[in-house]
Amino acid sequence: MVGGGAREHTLVWKLAQSPKVNEIYAAPGKAGTAQIARNLDIKPSDIESLAKIAQEKGIDLVVVGPEAPLARGIVDHFHGIGIPIFGPTKLAAEIESSKVFTKELMQKYGIPCARSVTFSEYSKAKEYIQKQTPPIVVKADGLAAGKGVTVAGSIPQALDALYNIMEARAFGASGDRVIIEERLSGREMSSFAFTDGKTVIPMVSACDYKPVFDGDHGPNTGGMGSYSPPHFTSSALYQEVTETILKTTVKAMAKEGRPYQGILYGGLMVTQDGPKVLEFNARFGDPETQVTLPLLRTDLVDIMLAVIDGNLGQIDVEWSETACAGVVMASGGYPGSYKTGFPITGLDTLDKDILVFHAGTKVGSEAGQVLTNGGRVLTVVATGKTITEAREKVYNNITRIRFKGCHYRKDIGMVREK
Ligand code: AMP
Ligand code: GLY
Repeated sequence: MVGGGAREHTLVWKLAQSPKVNEIYAAPGKAGTAQIARNLDIKPSDIESLAKIAQEKGIDLVVVGPEAPLARGIVDHFHGIGIPIFGPTKLAAEIESSKVFTKELMQKYGIPCARSVTFSEYSKAKEYIQKQTPPIVVKADGLAAGKGVTVAGSIPQALDALYNIMEARAFGASGDRVIIEERLSGREMSSFAFTDGKTVIPMVSACDYKPVFDGDHGPNTGGMGSYSPPHFTSSALYQEVTETILKTTVKAMAKEGRPYQGILYGGLMVTQDGPKVLEFNARFGDPETQVTLPLLRTDLVDIMLAVIDGNLGQIDVEWSETACAGVVMASGGYPGSYKTGFPITGLDTLDKDILVFHAGTKVGSEAGQVLTNGGRVLTVVATGKTITEAREKVYNNITRIRFKGCHYRKDIGMVREK
C-alpha cells in the first residue's frame, strides 16, 4: 500500500479481510496501519525505493493511494519490473493531473461539464476575466493539492486567483495554463468506478464535506467528513452517471490511446440539466473511501486483480444496502497552522462496530500510545440502516476520543431522508 492517510488505512483494512492476503506493507502507513500491516519508512514519491523493496519482499500486488506517484509514473515503473500494480499509467493519470487535457477530452466526446476557456498567457486570461459577469471559476491546469480552484464571486477575486496561479506561481508549473469556466450550481457528489479499461463497474457514490466548519463555513480542507450513499441519488441518476460519464470516459481514454485501469473518480455537480463533471481524479477519494469500502461485500483483492488482468467483466461486485458516515477529527488550527504530538485517548472505549481510520497519527513511546501527527488526525466511521443511524453512532462515540485542540464538524450526514 503506497500512502499514509486515512484512505490508505481503510484500503489496508479492507485488503486484510481477503483470504488471499498473507501480509501487507504500508509505505509509509501510520499508527493505524501498524496494527494490521508493517509500516515501511519510504515516501510515496520515492518510486525507486518502493520498487526495490517490492522486489526484495516478493510483493504480489501494489495499491497506490495518492495522485502524486500516479502522475509521476509509478504504474509504468512497476509494469517495467513485472510487479502487478493497481492504478492508471502516467498517460492515463493525466485525467487528474491535467485539467486542460481532461476538458478537451470531455468536449471531444460529449461528456457533460462546465463551459470553459483555456489560456496559457496571463494577459489574455486577465482581459477575458475582465469581460465576464461573476460568479466565475478559475482553475490551475495541474496538480495543486486541492488548492488550485477558486470559485470567485467577484471579478477582483477572480483576478487575484489568476495572478496567484500564473504570476506568483503558487503551484509552480501547474499554473502554466488556466481554465476559466462557468460556475455550476446543484448538489456535489463523488462517483467512482472500477475499470480494467473495458468493463466499468460503479462503486457506491458519496458526498464529501470540504469546508472546515458546520454549515459549510470557513476555508476548504482536505475533507472533514463524508457519507454514502448521497441522500438525493436515485437509480435513474446513478444510471445516467454510469452511462454518460463513467463509461463514456473510459471508452474515450481507450480511443485516445490512454487505456485507463484502476479507479476512476468523477467529482460531479448534479445540476438541473443533469450531472456534470467538475473534475476527474485517478484514485480513490479521501474521505470518501472511509465510507464506501465498509459497504463493499466483495473481496477487494479479487476486484483489483481482475482490473489488472483485464477480467473485470467476470466479477460480481456487491454492495451492502446500508449507509455509512465518517467524521474527521482535526488538530486545533487546521487547515491553518497547528501543533502535533498530543496523546489521543479513548480509542479503546468505543462501541465494537465503530471503525477508526488514522491519517495524522504516530505511535508514541509508551505502550499502546498514539500521538497526533498531522492536520486531519482520524476518521471515525459507522454503518447503519440509514444515514441518520450511521451518523448517530459516530457522534455517540466520537466524544469519547480526546486530544488537545481537537475539532470536528457536527453536521456530517445531517440530511432529510427520503
Ligand atoms: P475541482 O478540484 O475542480 O473539483 O474543484 C474543487 C471544488 O471547487 C469542487 O469540489 C467544487 O466545489 C468547486 N468547483 C469546481 N468547479 C466548479 C464549477 N464549475 N462550478 C461550481 N463549483 C466548482
Ligand atoms: N475528496 C476529495 C478528494 O479525494 O480529492
